[in-house]
Amino acid sequence: MTAGLDARTAALDLLGEVLERRTPLDEALQQHKKLASLDSRDRGFARNLVATSLRRLGQLDAVTAQLLDRPLKPKLEALRQVLRLGLCQILFLETPPHAAVDTSVRLTAKAGFGGHKGLVNAILRRADRELRPLIAGQEASGEAARLNTPNWLWDALSAAHGEAVAQAIAEAHLTEPPLDLTLKDPASADDWAARLDARVLPTGGLRLSSGQGDVAKLAGYRDGAWWVQDLAASLPARLLRARPGQTVVDLCAAPGGKTAQLAAAGAQVIAVDRDVGRLKRLTQNLDRLGLTAATVEADAISWRPSAPVTGVLLDAPCSATGTLRRHPDIARLKGPKQFAPLTALQDRLLAAAADMLAPGGHLVYATCSLLPEEGPARIAALLAAVRRGGGAPVARDPIAAEEVPGLGETVTAEGDLRSLPSQLSELGGLDGFYVCRLRRQ
Ligand SMILES: C[S@@+](CC[C@H](N)C(=O)[O-])C[C@H]1O[C@@H](n2cnc3c(N)ncnc32)[C@H](O)[C@@H]1O
Repeated sequence: MTAGLDARTAALDLLGEVLERRTPLDEALQQHKKLASLDSRDRGFARNLVATSLRRLGQLDAVTAQLLDRPLKPKLEALRQVLRLGLCQILFLETPPHAAVDTSVRLTAKAGFGGHKGLVNAILRRADRELRPLIAGQEASGEAARLNTPNWLWDALSAAHGEAVAQAIAEAHLTEPPLDLTLKDPASADDWAARLDARVLPTGGLRLSSGQGDVAKLAGYRDGAWWVQDLAASLPARLLRARPGQTVVDLCAAPGGKTAQLAAAGAQVIAVDRDVGRLKRLTQNLDRLGLTAATVEADAISWRPSAPVTGVLLDAPCSATGTLRRHPDIARLKGPKQFAPLTALQDRLLAAAADMLAPGGHLVYATCSLLPEEGPARIAALLAAVRRGGGAPVARDPIAAEEVPGLGETVTAEGDLRSLPSQLSELGGLDGFYVCRLRRQ
């Protein structure tokens, strides 16, 4: 039981780090000193417990409010985290209830709230006895999806996609997504699918079930046969249609999933990113894959290639709201206030990207966002500026459904690509991406 307590202590630190100190979960996981010393099973448990608590935060807090006679005082915030973790184990993970209660009571004392051990014990036992039907009812009625979606995000999704689609997206956010891999050699898909117990996706990538644990332990990782990349994230580089020997610029390239695709297609890639640490990871990733690209640490707004190029991929920084299935912390850490600076940055990056193109060259703009402000609205602004005579002359080069096999429903009437986590549900969904292809006149 002691090892279990260590995992839960780490989970308590991590949840506090995300919700109180506003650190992204991936960063908190990397920075946590004791996590690495846990065995891989406990590490996986801690990670899953925190991710599920964040995914189900709205339901957990509604249940807590129902079980407490009066709201917890602000100075008891860490106790709230203990309750969230305990309730999450009882109501959403298949933790044996006695283990969840016992470790939560011990965690209460360890966190310095020994005087509240009785309260935690009573709340968790009552939840175990009484609350499963309530949770099942919330799942069945769709209320769970609404409760776990913060108001700012619900309003933004409803305004952009309508209430019914917002509901379907919010439902998709409740489940941990499958693990998608992009293969260096697409011709090897059937072999790797058999070895990894995966299915081959219509685009040629592989899909494994969720909960695989440490991906570095999977067959083919060390050999550099594949890299982790969501199905939707694999589409922008594909839509650039890079040819062997062609020089292409990958702007905002790190950690390099799209750079790897372009290099694997035989292109000479110039990968640009302003973050030196992330660029280092890009180089390490390419080394593992046996692929090469020239790397440039620079601000893509002012950097220019030595000569105009025929292909530019811009995977712009954005709200990342399309990746909430994988990063449930984003719903809690981001909000509308962050969007205005991001959309201004996207406009400047788009204008710079268009300026790098030779006549007839193509620019693919992508964001992993569900918000139109970071997608079609940016392209409309760029094209309006071009009509006024500002910036490099570009026009939309529509994407055809045949270019994305099996994913025709993601292609819009204008010829852009808009994927939603609620699409392809029979296959396990895909991240939310917006992609537009433009051609320099
Ligand atoms: C969405 S991530 C890119 C993911 C990457 N394309 C991939 O497929 O692995 C956005 C990246 O943009 C970089 N970035 C943000 N602003 C930038 C700028 N002005 N110039 C260059 N890179 C920038 C960030 O450092 C970050 O690595």
